Formats: sequence, structure tokens, C-alpha cells
Amino acid sequence: GGGGKVVTVLVLGLDNSGKTTMLRTLTTTEQEGQRQGPGASSVPTVGQRQENFQSGGVSFRAWDVSGAARLRSLWERHYRHCDAVIFVVDSADHLRLVVARSELELMLSHPDMSGRRLPLLVLANKSDAPHALSAPHVASALGLERITDKPWHVCASSALSGEGLGDGVSWLARQLR
Ligand code: GTP
Ligand code: MG
Repeated sequence: GGGGKVVTVLVLGLDNSGKTTMLRTLTTTEQEGQRQGPGASSVPTVGQRQENFQSGGVSFRAWDVSGAARLRSLWERHYRHCDAVIFVVDSADHLRLVVARSELELMLSHPDMSGRRLPLLVLANKSDAPHALSAPHVASALGLERITDKPWHVCASSALSGEGLGDGVSWLARQLR
């Protein structure tokens, strides 16, 4: 229900970063009669799936795409059709921040993405985990300050508890309204 503007958002990030958990938390906090609670365990996404949620008067059609290395080629099929991107990073996975950065750069430089003013929300996820890096630290590790053709925003989040998700998604809604 709800109405409002409908936008397509692409949810990207390495495997195990928390994309599916985040979408499940966003959809279960607003829907009654939920099938799975936010605490339900997550399994790696095979291929891609679609999930809808709303924020700030905007209806989001979200594509949750697998982050597994062998399936990352699926990402680019969605580029032409998306209005926004949520890039999820595991802030406690220090070793793979460099991999996350190169996948982000590859996405941003794709012909279907570069030069488009679509908003990019980066979630420095798993902020609840021991040794999680802060949002500014994740931003600098990803080189976000070099992105000049898109409005971007970084938020610390916990997809498990939902902390930070509301702030991030309402920023996105404001960009898209
Ligand atoms: P793929 O589908 O393989 O690309 O992974 P994904 O990004 O969808 O990750 P998923 O949501 O399946 O979460 C991976 C694991 O991280 C699961 O065990 C989650 O419970 C856990 N997880 C996700 N978000 C958080 C978080 O904010 N904090 C903590 N501590 N664990 C999290
Ligand atoms: Mg998943």
C-alpha cells in the first residue's frame, strides 16, 4: 500500500556483507504478519530476488543480488534500470575492504552508471560486531571522497538490529522524492 513515487534500488556488496538481512529487517519492521523475524538466520542469496519496502513517502522496489564472486557479473544487468544503489559493506571484514572498493569502482565506472546522478547509499554494516570500523573509516577505505558525479552518503548500520538503517534509507528517500 502507501502509494508515493516508486523507485528501483539495487542492493550490492560482497557476499556476507548483510544485504539480505538488511532487506529482511526493513520489510519486517513495517509489515505485520511477517514470515520471518529479523533474527532469522540468513543463507547466501542464489542469483537475485526482489523485495519491497517504503520510506519517506517513497516505495522502493529493491533488487537483492548475490555478492558471491562467481555471480557478481549479474550486477551489471540491473544498472540501466536502477534509480539508486545501496552498497553494503561488512565493516568488520578489514581484509576484504579492498575487494569491496574495487567492486564499487567497477560498478561506478560501468558505462550504464558513470555520469548518472543516481544516489549512492553506503552502509558500513555490522557496526555491532567487534572491531567494526567506523563509517568515516569505511568511507576513506572505499575512496568515497573521489565520487563527484553522484550524491553519496555513508551510514553505520546493523542489519540485525536495524540500527542506522532508518537514517540511511530516509536520506535515500529524500534524494529521490
Ligand atoms: P550474499 O547473499 O551471499 O551476497 O550475502 P548477503 O550480503 O545477503 O549477507 P546476509 O544478509 O546473508 O548476511 C550474512 C551473514 O552476516 C549472516 O550470518 C547474517 O546474520 C550476518 N549479518 C548481517 N548483517 C549483520 C549485522 O549488521 N551484524 C552482524 N553481527 N551480523 C550481520
Ligand atoms: Mg543475500
